[in-house]
Parts: sequence; C-alpha cells; structure tokens
Amino acid sequence: MIFETHAHYDDDAYNDDRDSVIKLLKAEGVAPIVNVGASLTSTEDAVKLAHKYEHVYAAVGVHPSECDALTEDDMVWLRGLCDDPKVIAVGEIGLDYHYDEPDREIQKVWFKRQLRLAQEVSLPIIVHSRDAASDTLEILSMDEFRGIKGIIHCFSYSVELAREYIKMGHHIGIGGVVTFKNGKKLQEIAKTIPLENIVVETDCPYLAPEPYRGRRNSSAYLTYIIDRIASLRSAKYEEIEKATYENAAALFGVRADG
Ligand code: NI
Repeated sequence: MIFETHAHYDDDAYNDDRDSVIKLLKAEGVAPIVNVGASLTSTEDAVKLAHKYEHVYAAVGVHPSECDALTEDDMVWLRGLCDDPKVIAVGEIGLDYHYDEPDREIQKVWFKRQLRLAQEVSLPIIVHSRDAASDTLEILSMDEFRGIKGIIHCFSYSVELAREYIKMGHHIGIGGVVTFKNGKKLQEIAKTIPLENIVVETDCPYLAPEPYRGRRNSSAYLTYIIDRIASLRSAKYEEIEKATYENAAALFGVRADG
C-alpha cells in the first residue's frame, strides 16, 4: 500500500467525481490518505471526508495565506476537533512569503499559535513553508517547539536545510516536483537523505507528477513519485513504497490494515 500524506480532496476540482475518486484509491493501493485542511472551511470539510471514508484521515489547521482573520475562538474550535480519532495532525500551518499578504508578523503569530496547539494535543504537524526558509527554521528550532515532530511538506529548500530538519526529527515530504525536469534540488534530496525521513505526498489537485504535469493530480499518481525516488536511489520500487508507508504510519499512528 501507498501512504498518501498530503491531499486536498475537499477542493472544488473534485466536485464532479469526489466519491468515486476516493473510493477507487483504496482499490488502487493508496491508503491511508491524509486530507489536509488549509482554511477553517476546508478543515471542516476534511473532517467530514475523514468520517465518510474509512481510509481517509484529517489534518486540521490554517495555511499561512489564510490566517489573516483568525481569532482565538477559531483556535478553541480547532482544539475541539483534535479530540476526534480521525484527526491525526495539525496542518497545514507555516509561513508563505511568496506574496506580500498576510503580513509576515501575523503569519508568525498564527504559526506559533498552531504549533502550541499541536503540542497541547500531542499531534504531529504538517508544515507549509515557501520563500520563508530562515524564519521557518528559526521558529521550529525554538526550545518550546523542539518536541514536535512532523512533515516539512512540498520541500523546496536545499539539501543542507533538509538535513537540519531531519536532525530535529522531522520528515521531508516529496511530491510531484521530484519528477520535473527543473526539480534537480528535490531530486538531490530524494537521492541523499536517509530513507527513514522520506514520506510521499501529492498535494492534489495541484502539482501532478510527470507525465501528468499541469493536469488535475490524484493520489493514484504517487506511483510515479515512488518510481522516481527508487531510480534516484538505485532502489527497488517496493522498498521505497514500504519504507515511506512505514515512516508515515509511525508518524501518524494509523495504518490501512488497522
Ligand atoms: Ni497542501
């Protein structure tokens, strides 16, 4: 089985066929699937999907680009969701400096607040970090957050930085970019970091791997990502599939086979 650590099946891109896509995935060998919240609305939808499908689990949290209007009441609401057995992570949370909004200081406030939430409920985190390498590392390195473990999702930084996160006990999320011609940096990471720190993810509907680049992504395409990692490491496909499954199963504490 393949463990999908990052999907957004609540996205409008699946409005016409969500049910059949999700049901088919288990038959195609993809389970469990972590459906990741990115806003309050999508978090609510993620939890609903997790209740509807046995092989779907939810991560609850608010993406840095969506954190502008957050309140402490929202944190109380998120805290309540974390008691649900199908909620297995806090995410996606982090920093995104690609656009000027929301203000960086506001992003930092809510990143730290959601890290405290993860700590309080003892759940792993799923981190989104874009164009914000040093601030993300600085915050995750703070003494008070040292005990938290998770995935640095859609990793877009250097091999050296990947090694820093690994030293802290985090996993590196490898997705479709590893199959891209311009994905050299991620290919180097997939080739050289310890296998026990790699998990696979799609971020679907976005970032479909080659040969589907630019089209709607599906967790079924994780086979292309695993295949690429295997060839980069001169390893067998089955070895990468099994290792990435076990890594994610240990982190999140769930398995497709119960
Ligand atoms: Ni995502």
